Amino acid sequence: MTPAAANQRITALRAQVTHHDELYYRRAQPEISDYAYDRLKRELADLEAEFPQFASATTPTERVGDDRLAGFVTYRHRQRMQSLDNTYSEAELRAFHQRLVKTFGREDLAYVIEPKIDGLAVSVTYERGKLVRAVTRGNGEEGDDITANARTIRSLPAELKAAKKFPVPDVIEIRGEIYFTTAEFQRINQEREEAGEPLYANPRNLASGTIKQLDPKLVAQRKLEIVLYGVGFCEPAVTDSQSHFHELVKHWGLPTVERTWQATGADEIWGAVGQLDKLRHSFAYGTDGAVVKLDAFAQQREAGATSKAPRWAIAYKFEPERAETRINAISIQVGRTGVLTPVAELWRCAARI
Ligand code: IVH
Repeated sequence: MTPAAANQRITALRAQVTHHDELYYRRAQPEISDYAYDRLKRELADLEAEFPQFASATTPTERVGDDRLAGFVTYRHRQRMQSLDNTYSEAELRAFHQRLVKTFGREDLAYVIEPKIDGLAVSVTYERGKLVRAVTRGNGEEGDDITANARTIRSLPAELKAAKKFPVPDVIEIRGEIYFTTAEFQRINQEREEAGEPLYANPRNLASGTIKQLDPKLVAQRKLEIVLYGVGFCEPAVTDSQSHFHELVKHWGLPTVERTWQATGADEIWGAVGQLDKLRHSFAYGTDGAVVKLDAFAQQREAGATSKAPRWAIAYKFEPERAETRINAISIQVGRTGVLTPVAELWRCAARI
């Protein structure tokens, strides 16, 4: 590709990705599947790497999608909320491990593997064990304050259970995901069908749209759920590894991921990802991948992060095994002899329901 053509394509891709980010994060109404979106973003990232002369500080590959909406008070996270880099192949997953092997000069790195929950990212803050705030990721620096809505989530305790072995810190930002179970999503859609209303496309978008309602009473009518899987700011530090953090979260009485795996090295990571793939359909929430995280927080700190994602974690996305084809539009083609032929413009999207 010539530099001029690359420049043109990069500009077009930046506009497309920005457009789809807006639809997904802010409006909760994506037009394309996650898979198609990831492909566009990957093509952009590859071209940016090949043609560094067209670098831009505002490219969507260097920032997290912004979900902030008018009508909400914004709140600055004590610690930045990042996204994750995605991979789709075993080779890329192994390359992730190899980069860390190079950083640390050792092969026996320990990881935790977790389900990647298909919801929307949230940060909940507990001060002296009491729930004080829930905030969306926003632009990573600051997000929308959704505390009143999050308080309607029955599984989110207003107070953490403290015990000698599981001390509660003075202040902790806990990261997680808000979602709908498949069952609740179907119940809501059934109600809509009976009322003759259009159906919601998938649980993730419905969860995202629901938590961004301005009236908590409306939110309370639907049974949103939450799962917590990460620590942001924490003072004083009460844990030094992801695996121990999972234990703490459970003992504090918070909903946590259904299963985690511990693995050392690339073969074990791959084995765990395979096990998760077999099990994930039995989970209450949609799982579109595995998240692989270095276990030791000291190693996480040393590995560091890019502007958008940590270098110590990666998401491995499962191939969408079912695809749904939608007719996006029907155009009429006029043949040479004047015959009119309707042509369907098809849009393939991953079915996650
Ligand atoms: S860790 C700094 N763990 O996936 C690391 N994220 O595509 C931050 N997600 O923004 C994320 N399940 O909203 C992590 N077990 C999990 C997750 C998870 C779902 C979401 C999260 C993140 C997005 C990236």
